[in-house]
Amino acid sequence: MAYVNDAIADATVARVRHAELVQEIEEHRARYYGDDAPILSDAEYDALERELRALEERHPELVEPDSPTQTVGSAGVETGFTSVRHRERMMSLDNAFSLDDVEAWLARVGKEAGDQQLVCEPKIDGLSLSLTYEDGTLVRGVTRGDGTTGEDVTANVLTIAGIPRALRGPDDGGAAIPSVVEIRGEVYMPVREFDRLNERLLAEGKPPYANPRNTAAGSLRQKNPEVTAERPLALTTYALGALEWQETPPDPRFKTQHGIYEVLEAWGLPISEHVRAVRGAEAIAATLTDLENRRHRLVHEIDGAVLKVDDRAVQAELGSTSRAPRWALAYKFPPEEVHTTLEDIGVDVGRTGRVTPYGIMTPVKVAGSTVTYATLHNAHEVKRKGVMLGDTVVLRKAGDVIPEIVGPVVAARTGKEREWTMPTTCPSCGTELYEQKEGDKDLRCPNARACPGQLADRIAFIGSRGALDIEVLGEKAAVALVETGVLATEAGLFDLTEDDLTRIPMFTLKVDENLSKAQREAGETPREAGAITRNGSKLLDELAKARTQPLWRVVVSLSIRHVGPTASRALATELGSMDAIRAASAEELAAVEGVGPVIAESVREWFEVDWHREIVERWSAAGVRMAEEKDESIAQTLEGLTIVATGTLEGFSRDGIKEAIISRGGKAASSVSKKTDYVVVGANAGSKAAKAEDLGVPVLNEQQFVALCEGIAPQDSVE
Ligand code: IVH
Repeated sequence: MAYVNDAIADATVARVRHAELVQEIEEHRARYYGDDAPILSDAEYDALERELRALEERHPELVEPDSPTQTVGSAGVETGFTSVRHRERMMSLDNAFSLDDVEAWLARVGKEAGDQQLVCEPKIDGLSLSLTYEDGTLVRGVTRGDGTTGEDVTANVLTIAGIPRALRGPDDGGAAIPSVVEIRGEVYMPVREFDRLNERLLAEGKPPYANPRNTAAGSLRQKNPEVTAERPLALTTYALGALEWQETPPDPRFKTQHGIYEVLEAWGLPISEHVRAVRGAEAIAATLTDLENRRHRLVHEIDGAVLKVDDRAVQAELGSTSRAPRWALAYKFPPEEVHTTLEDIGVDVGRTGRVTPYGIMTPVKVAGSTVTYATLHNAHEVKRKGVMLGDTVVLRKAGDVIPEIVGPVVAARTGKEREWTMPTTCPSCGTELYEQKEGDKDLRCPNARACPGQLADRIAFIGSRGALDIEVLGEKAAVALVETGVLATEAGLFDLTEDDLTRIPMFTLKVDENLSKAQREAGETPREAGAITRNGSKLLDELAKARTQPLWRVVVSLSIRHVGPTASRALATELGSMDAIRAASAEELAAVEGVGPVIAESVREWFEVDWHREIVERWSAAGVRMAEEKDESIAQTLEGLTIVATGTLEGFSRDGIKEAIISRGGKAASSVSKKTDYVVVGANAGSKAAKAEDLGVPVLNEQQFVALCEGIAPQDSVE
């Protein structure tokens, strides 16, 4: 009895959930297809459909002909466009979310029709369109609608470049023309064009569009074709609907899917250039992965790949369900856009004093990683995106790109969302923030020397791989060094002692050490409570090692604005020492290749600050390398000479000759001035050689330069 009751209870629960799901899915389909403004992410929507499908598999009695598992798109939306009946139904595709799903489908196809050749092509993220050509002339363009009837958007379709008004017949190098043909394809907005459109909107102070798909859909379904005409839409065709001939021509290309693409192309229609023929599970998996890896290099967004049985006779044999063909399958890539809640906005001060807001979200998985935080750059950006606290937001992580909050899902607002305002004081030290220049979008904390947030970030940066690469000196250690007051600025970093570190809990043993067997065998003696931890000792060793890092890494470590690894390398190579960098005028700095006036000015300003100079002095006193390494075996034959090299030399690369000059004590400059001692001229030298002549600077050929390196002064300069 209990068993019967359970079954009844289960059926009731299933019926209630089924009704809920049907209603929800229909509502979301209307938003997606009817309004071009979905509030669910694709992944969330797919999950609803998947749940419904699973429920119906367990309770087949719940399946109705109009259940969303049996239907396509959205019907009954009042749109103002004329409804047109498709001659042949427009189908959707069944989805696979894993390679296992693909294999299961392949097995089903194999069982019915044996091993088949397939075509694999991009699943374009746009909206489907059916074009009807009668005797080769375009007569209608219709959206998919519910698959049976769609909206007549012919006037708009006529504005899309690349859609031919007439098919190319055999006389124009095309293919035989049917009396009626429905051609199906996807309308999309190329990513580049979408970005450009958004840039323009932003420049005009207007809110940008959310994504290319909804923008394309909204653009195609404009009431005014002139508006559509301004939108950069494109089409890729991938299927035929109805096909009627006066007399059927014996064109063998109609026998296969790839042959149809050849015919479409011959007629003058755009097709995908990424269609591949594949056979066998392994090759299919490789092709799907390959397309996924290339997804960001395509002109349009894709949300997956479509697999189609190539042989059209087999397609007909396999047939279709009410909503999708059995001979095709959409393999969906993991979503790059998901929805999550923006719980709060935090602010953080970075090593250069810039104060940046960042979104704190309900953790969400996107493109393979779980994301909780995403930078919002500055208050201006928060305003531009129009996000409010509590909003459902679109979070995007495309490929290797850093996760980005695209914007709010406005339609999902409940009224409980709150505006966010940028603080006016530093989150770390409370100092009033300022704009460096009037109208600057970034706010900065002026307390560069002592602001604990900035200082800890600068110290952690010194330890990072791109700077002095000091193991143990990560964010945690940097914060501890600052919070305990052990370091008041980074100037004392290389003077740290064991005593200093034992003032920091993370580097102090709390209890007597218990050595492992291996440690005992290695002859280690146990340390007592209160002594420095092994990690602390390691930090000291690492700091000692870091003193010998090359000059450019030391320059990077100073956190001079705009001076990253490229500029630091250029400065170190060309000027050779910290003293030379410090002594150089803004003009001299700007003359270094790879260093422009902005960087030059930034370097000058940096050295004008007392506590900055103190950093360099104390590091130098602590033995940190302050000059390019000199190989003692190389004679300093170019000492005091400023030399410019130009043109192509046989024995030296561009960097190679600079190194040759610097390692011999010379200065490798990149522009010729009166202060230049020699200009080394190679093949195809340009204006620098001419300038040397103008200024009367002696010119050397490569041989003479080599001789000079060997200590032989040139007798004559080259004419
Ligand atoms: S074939 C009879 N091929 O995806 C088969 N569809 O989720 C009809 N789509 O409704 C579809 N790229 O709007 C096909 N290369 C492609 C496609 C593609 C995108 C769209 C199409 C379809 C939807 C199903």
